[in-house]
Amino acid sequence: MNARAPKGTADMLPEVARTWEHLQRTAQTLFARYGYAPVYTPLFEHTEVFTRGIGEATDIVSKEMYTFQDKGGRSITLRPEGTASVVRAALEHNLTANGQSAKLYYAGPMFRYERPQKGRMRQFWQIGLEALGMPEPSLDAEVIIVLMRFFDELGLPRENMRLLINSMGDEACRPVYRDRVASFIREHSDGLCEECNRRAETNPLRAFDCKNPQCSQIMSEAPLLRDELCDDCAAHYATVKRLLDAAGVSYIEDPSLVRGLDYYTRTVFEVQVDAGLGSQNAIGGGGRYDRLMQEYGGPATPGLGFALGFERTMLAMQAAGVIVPGPALAEVYVALVEPSLADAAFTLAQELRDAGIAVEMDHQGRSLKSQFKQADRLGARVVAIVGPEEIAAGEVTLRDMTTKEESRVSLGDIAGQARTLLG
Ligand code: HAM
Repeated sequence: MNARAPKGTADMLPEVARTWEHLQRTAQTLFARYGYAPVYTPLFEHTEVFTRGIGEATDIVSKEMYTFQDKGGRSITLRPEGTASVVRAALEHNLTANGQSAKLYYAGPMFRYERPQKGRMRQFWQIGLEALGMPEPSLDAEVIIVLMRFFDELGLPRENMRLLINSMGDEACRPVYRDRVASFIREHSDGLCEECNRRAETNPLRAFDCKNPQCSQIMSEAPLLRDELCDDCAAHYATVKRLLDAAGVSYIEDPSLVRGLDYYTRTVFEVQVDAGLGSQNAIGGGGRYDRLMQEYGGPATPGLGFALGFERTMLAMQAAGVIVPGPALAEVYVALVEPSLADAAFTLAQELRDAGIAVEMDHQGRSLKSQFKQADRLGARVVAIVGPEEIAAGEVTLRDMTTKEESRVSLGDIAGQARTLLG
């Protein structure tokens, strides 16, 4: 058998898993301050949720989905992102019925069949949030501010990041603009790659995203939606920028930012970093999707949100030298002088744990010396030495591993004394 994890996946070993949990905790605390509640949706959905939501012509739907038929003959897809599922769930459970709004966040694995490289996985982890039912531009500013605050809370310096923003227009101005870009592509078809030429027919705005340098050069001359926004979209975009300015969040307006999902209307944004990531430099992104719920047959319900990628955020944190403080695996290590004391040590370890202290002990009859080594490896700040003499006197020796001082403590006082030493 092949004992390696499939290409594009990675085991999250304890050190990385702890960082993931740290990100989730940070998100939980911060997002709650903005009124977001957790939501868990299935890891797979009916394929249609994504084909209709994200768009048939996007790379995600046309090339990257893990789609299969289940035993009942249904077409099922592992979720490539969270937004479509959250909007489907909100519709199914009437979370935004009668003009109610819903603020939801999620964290979990996503699946895209992409060519793996640094920061690009086939199973990757996202944290995201979605605000449903609110068309106001202040929500756009709020969502962007939460994303930037999240990176602040992680300790990622703002100067290492770039926040790009753009407006994609709406159903009034976008179709007109799409046609103009399609005509531009057709006029420049000789210089553009095959894929961009195909995009003229399917999804012309995606040509702005083409990585081919010649295409980027040509597309830099293409008409910009910024110059063609209808009055409502222009006013919405202006308010978002004004509120970001007022919040001291700096941004770069990038009129070519279109992002890889078709559901966006009006504001879109992306956070990029330079250090640590190479070409996969977007650590998070999102935008408004005011027509998505209608796409699923629901009532017109505005929405917006963002998602950030865990692996890329972690690479950016490493590059910036951000260290996530891991909890000690053991605060107190219970060491036994001889194996006959194993039961007493076992009981003591339970008592200390019940008192809320992280405790580890030797179960394998190791020498006292190797038990001390193990205590060091686990980062224990106190070792409780269970010796025959001590036990006979109803006591234990507590050794402060920092000062190396030892004191005899009666069994009943150990938790209190240990806590004093732990500070
Ligand atoms: P997205 O830009 O496709 O947006 O993904 C968000 C983040 O997920 C990216 O910025 C990146 O950090 C991470 N990511 C995406 N693909 C991969 C991959 N193959 N490997 C590792 N990390 C990856 C969305 O998914 C939208 N649902 C965001 C959103 C929420 N828009 C509105 N609400």
